[in-house]
Amino acid sequence: MPPPAAPLLAGRAVGSRRRAAHGRAGGGPCRRCQQVWQVARVLGEALVKVGIPLDLPLLRAGALLHDIAKAETLKNGGNHAALGAAWLEDLGYPAVAAIIAQHVCLQRDPATLEVPGEIELVNYADKRVRHTEIVSLAERFADLRRRYGRTPEAGRRISANEKRSRILEEKIFQPLKFQPEDILAFIHGSRL
Ligand SMILES: [Fe+2]
Repeated sequence: MPPPAAPLLAGRAVGSRRRAAHGRAGGGPCRRCQQVWQVARVLGEALVKVGIPLDLPLLRAGALLHDIAKAETLKNGGNHAALGAAWLEDLGYPAVAAIIAQHVCLQRDPATLEVPGEIELVNYADKRVRHTEIVSLAERFADLRRRYGRTPEAGRRISANEKRSRILEEKIFQPLKFQPEDILAFIHGSRL
């Protein structure tokens, strides 16, 4: 059974004073998901300002719910992106499901992208958060390599994903007047 997602999808804030683990029932979005949303929000708002049409409530729902099935798959195995997407599809939210489905790996080659959409922004934002800390792509992929790159095949997969994320980063920042390393300053309000 999927955890209740309706409050987020209705655009209402879901608050919790206690620290929520991934998908813990009643805990609200996990800290990591909130950080992914902060990165996606800064980029989404900036891209809207330069004329790229984005659905910010959809972006928010996708960012906050992208790891909704993580706890379930940590416990019982399986692919958390696919399972989370299936849950949201069943609940009647195919656009959110598509974001969740591609938050680990994009189906589309970012090199062919004209403008980034909600799917690409959540995928990129996910690569900018290491546990709960906002970091560079290099730092995030170094961590992934340490944790999951134990076989040559796994290392190759991670390197391929990093290459695609770097292309995606270029595409996202192309129309913007700030750099990937400036995101933290925007989140903390020192650059507006
Ligand atoms: Fe994830």
